[in-house]
Amino acid sequence: MAPPSIVVGAAAAALNCIPQTFHNPNISGLGISSISAHVVNNWSLEIPQGLYTSHEARNVTDVSFCNVTVTSTHPGWNDTINTQLWLPLDPSDWNGRLQMTGGGGLVTGLLYTAMTGALSDGYASVSTDGGHNSLTDLSVWGLYEDQNPNLYNVLDFAQNSLHEAAVMGKTLTKDFYGKNVSYSYYTGCSTGGRQGLAIAQNYPEDFDGILASAPALKWNDIAIQMLYPMVNLLDQHDGFPNQCELDALTAAAVEACDPKDGVTDGIISAPELCDLDPLTMVGRSIPCGTSSEGHVVNISRIAAIGAKGAWYPVEQSGTALWLGFGQQAQLGGLMNTTTTTTTTNSPSGVSEPEPVPFGPSVQWLACMLKHDPAYDWRTNYNVQQMYEQLKSPENALYRGILSADNPDLSKFRDAGGKMITWQGMADDNIPTAESQDYYQSVEAHDPDVRDYYRYFQPPGIGHCLGGPGFFPGQTFENLVDWVEHGRAPDSLLGVTQPDFNGVISQRPICLYPKRAKYDGEGEVTAAGSWTCQ
Ligand SMILES: *[C@@H]1O[C@H](CO)[C@@H](O)[C@H](O)[C@H]1NC(C)=O
Ligand SMILES: *[C@@H]1O[C@H](CO)[C@@H](O)[C@H](O)[C@H]1NC(C)=O
Ligand SMILES: *[C@@H]1O[C@H](CO)[C@@H](O)[C@H](O)[C@H]1NC(C)=O
Ligand SMILES: *[C@@H]1O[C@H](CO)[C@@H](O)[C@H](O)[C@H]1NC(C)=O
Ligand SMILES: *[C@@H]1O[C@H](CO)[C@@H](O)[C@H](O)[C@H]1NC(C)=O
Ligand SMILES: *[C@@H]1O[C@H](CO)[C@@H](O)[C@H](O)[C@H]1NC(C)=O
Ligand SMILES: *[C@@H]1O[C@H](CO)[C@@H](O)[C@H](O)[C@H]1NC(C)=O
Ligand SMILES: *[C@@H]1O[C@H](CO)[C@@H](O)[C@H](O)[C@H]1NC(C)=O
Repeated sequence: MAPPSIVVGAAAAALNCIPQTFHNPNISGLGISSISAHVVNNWSLEIPQGLYTSHEARNVTDVSFCNVTVTSTHPGWNDTINTQLWLPLDPSDWNGRLQMTGGGGLVTGLLYTAMTGALSDGYASVSTDGGHNSLTDLSVWGLYEDQNPNLYNVLDFAQNSLHEAAVMGKTLTKDFYGKNVSYSYYTGCSTGGRQGLAIAQNYPEDFDGILASAPALKWNDIAIQMLYPMVNLLDQHDGFPNQCELDALTAAAVEACDPKDGVTDGIISAPELCDLDPLTMVGRSIPCGTSSEGHVVNISRIAAIGAKGAWYPVEQSGTALWLGFGQQAQLGGLMNTTTTTTTTNSPSGVSEPEPVPFGPSVQWLACMLKHDPAYDWRTNYNVQQMYEQLKSPENALYRGILSADNPDLSKFRDAGGKMITWQGMADDNIPTAESQDYYQSVEAHDPDVRDYYRYFQPPGIGHCLGGPGFFPGQTFENLVDWVEHGRAPDSLLGVTQPDFNGVISQRPICLYPKRAKYDGEGEVTAAGSWTCQ
């Protein structure tokens, strides 16, 4: 049986979990429509790796919290923003800190996996939907009925709602526990990573620590650029590749390029040394499909062109159309195709591959640049149009709202903030070069960037999670240690999933631009056998 004092603590707090406990947070330019509060008992959720950003999988069971929900609007904007703050019910379970979690794709936030992860670590956990929930189509929140863009809603998605949620999180947490939060943190990946950078640049006093992973930092540009690998194929008028062809090309790249980093371990750790020309692979025959219904195909020219377009940078008249993926990225991420079983017009028994481009990119193009949700990119889109759109005044307008690429972090530095970005070398959604370029631009602005902002590139890790490489599942804890104890991380600990023999490998992920180098002795699988240089 639990000690009576703890029962009293939670029970007393439950009586406080009512709307009257919480004051209007009084945020300039924001109207509070309502505040609700109720106890949620025994909340449980299964969290896969990375869905609580930079954390391993975990199963959370039986956490009780006070769910405070604030509905707000900017007068004149006709928006409705929902922000939830989850407060560990028993005050002795609260670690004194606040953690805000971000979104992904076209979703501003309120991802329950991330909120639950933070809550289970003892944080007061806050997140906002930024005016639209994850189920609302962009054609509904991004456009007015006359198909003109709703820039207010885009602003909410971009940044306003994030700052407001940070302020709400702090003031309402104080209302509940009767004391200020000791430290405040932000974590997110992809769109969530962009949000972290936007906060550091525009609201430098909101958080003590920010983890901005694999950021979509030039959101509106990258949304369009992410269509490049597919549109490049469309321009060839020659169909789309089978997924197995792309997988074979990735496997060939790993075979050719992995040893160049000094250790043959199935992981490309120095993608810049990789120069495999996929066109040399054309004609190689490979098994395709599952073994029961499998058949053999030859790697086609179109698949090789696809891989080439995905791996290497492309520019037109000085405008970057595409920065290029690491060669270990799953090419099917942005060049996904599907086939269906057919009995009629194909000797192999399957249909020609049909393209499935990245959904949020297709929606952004159709709604925000073509102002036509029904726009079909396959009928007349091409690389030339993409280039023109990237340079268009309308895109510049979105860039002003959505880009988080300001290299000047001096206000964040002066406020005492600390920030970490990591992006996997096998990211198959956003080129890793995006984060690297940004970090270099901050460094060009301030050579002492490492005093407050650090960047890492784990080999063999995909977009925010997954991949055969070294996942940095302790990064958030490293950030807390840096903020609260001044211990700046010179490396992150990367850990693989168990291999076929159940072996887990560990390796330091070095502070950019350093790379881990094998000492030449000791277990290759042990982090201690590697040095950053
Ligand atoms: C809200 O803030 C403004 C300025 O920050 C202040 O003038 C006003 O008195 C505040 N209102 C309340 C109810 O605290
Ligand atoms: C919550 O779970 C605990 C066991 O973990 C159980 O004792 C308790 O009755 C549950 N409470 C509610 C309200 O379901
Ligand atoms: C979570 O629970 C599921 C279902 O019981 C189980 O398959 C999975 O391995 C668990 N995950 C972790 C990280 O413990
Ligand atoms: C928190 O409260 C809001 C408003 O009542 C509700 O919509 C939401 O489902 C609640 N969340 C949880 C996890 O219970
Ligand atoms: C405000 O938004 C709602 C739906 O979000 C819409 O039905 C209504 O027409 C809008 N009002 C104005 C004045 O635009
Ligand atoms: C609590 O935070 C507020 C706002 O940041 C600050 O003005 C106040 O001094 C803090 N109170 C204490 C006791 O630290
Ligand atoms: C693959 O190429 C070989 C040799 O060029 C040819 O004999 C075979 O028919 C091709 N297979 C398919 C499925 O196209
Ligand atoms: C490819 O598209 C299919 C059909 O929409 C989907 O089921 C599958 O998960 C996608 N694969 C990838 C790698 O995105």
